[in-house]
Amino acid sequence: MEVVLCDDEHEVARLAADAVEALVRARPAAVLGVATGSTPLGLYRELARRHAAGLRFDEVSAFLLDEYVGLPPRHPQSYREVVRRELAAPVGLADERLHGPDGTAADLPAECARYEAVLAAAGGIDLQVVGIGANGHVAFNEPSSSLGSRTRIKTLTPRTRADNARFFASPEEVPRHVLTQGLATVLEARHVVLLALGVAKAGAVAAAVEGPLSARCPASVLQLHPHVTVLVDPGAAASLQDADHYRQVWRDKPHWQGL
Ligand code: GLP
Repeated sequence: MEVVLCDDEHEVARLAADAVEALVRARPAAVLGVATGSTPLGLYRELARRHAAGLRFDEVSAFLLDEYVGLPPRHPQSYREVVRRELAAPVGLADERLHGPDGTAADLPAECARYEAVLAAAGGIDLQVVGIGANGHVAFNEPSSSLGSRTRIKTLTPRTRADNARFFASPEEVPRHVLTQGLATVLEARHVVLLALGVAKAGAVAAAVEGPLSARCPASVLQLHPHVTVLVDPGAAASLQDADHYRQVWRDKPHWQGL
């Protein structure tokens, strides 16, 4: 893992956008994996700015990590709608190029298998943006998720429902079930860029980067991936033991290497 200790959330957004921009310029038909939550919003705003300055996303496709079960299709908090609003529309990515598991499908296991097949048919994800839950979850792979899991139905923990209640009118409205890419699905992306902001994520980041590989911290599975970039602000970096080492590696990085 390459751990980059950023000065603030703006640098996190800028470096993540640099990685997306380099990919899209090299490969206009790139396949992006996109996350929800508040953490990637700065990245999405930065990409919208770059789009306004000429960066094109016409041929790019985007795949969601996860989706709530049972929210009506255009519900403002359905993850497809969030990504449409915050990223796809502002960068001119057409609706038919935005893919997600359908949490309203009558046959949810069949829908999970369909989503895996669409992902595979697209050739897999070039760059997957992920956030991290305060409990170490990635997408909606809660602690105890199988490290070999594929897209499937999961039940949210009370903590995740409470964390996400801020997006809903009342805590009871947060769905109990979700469809989520599995950890093995996420590991197939060619580059994973993990973003974390704020001290509330410090424990989860330290467990993911420096802790043992464990289903108790699902994000620790990223230690198995050959190309992960972790972009953290000072708060999210607060519990890392080897911060000096990460700083030195970043300072001495050969200038021709991107993220
Ligand atoms: C949700 C999403 C995750 C996201 C996490 C953190 O539960 N399913 O993909 O990483 O929340 O969200 P935030 O960035 O708002 O802290």
